[in-house]
Amino acid sequence: MRKAAFHLAFLVAAAGSFAHAAEPVWPRLTERLKTLLSSEMQQISDAMGPLTTAIATGDHDMAQHLGIAIRDSFILKKSLTPQDKQDLLGAVPAEFVEIDREFHRLANKLAGAAAKKDSELQEVYLSKMVASCIACHRQFAQDVFPGFADSESTVD
Ligand code: HEC
Repeated sequence: MRKAAFHLAFLVAAAGSFAHAAEPVWPRLTERLKTLLSSEMQQISDAMGPLTTAIATGDHDMAQHLGIAIRDSFILKKSLTPQDKQDLLGAVPAEFVEIDREFHRLANKLAGAAAKKDSELQEVYLSKMVASCIACHRQFAQDVFPGFADSESTVD
């Protein structure tokens, strides 16, 4: 009980202090979470090229399939034991979880647009997904992607 209360207080403090800072999450993760996140990123990254091609060539079935695959790569949804979840929430700010959730929501929307054979809408969600990659990497992975260091907008 006491531990739970401490954990909650920590989460609130973490959310408050890191919400707008460019704070790398990588060093804060357990080895297991590092492996899971890294393989999630590889999977997402490998799917983005074929997804772009599928949208560009009107291959709606493939776009839908890839959109769903990306949606389901959400590490919070699978692979995570209760201990992993606790480790993750203790290590990353609330905003990281929020961006990840939004990113997977967009992949789901893209799959829906593909199911309706709506190419323009697929393009809109693809672009929003890339914006999501940038937002998360700029804020939480500048240690891995130093290219964002110079382009960061002013933060408080
Ligand atoms: C919610 C946050 C978040 C989102 C969204 C996100 N990433 Fe990442 N990504 C990270 C973090 C943190 C790292 C650094 C840790 C790592 O290397 O896994 C990373 C690392 C990576 C890496 C390096 C992986 C490795 O370990 O070699 C690639 C490639 C990558 N992301 C691609 C993408 C692409 C492409 C997108 C969007 C389509 C995306 N990511 C969206 C957080 C995110």
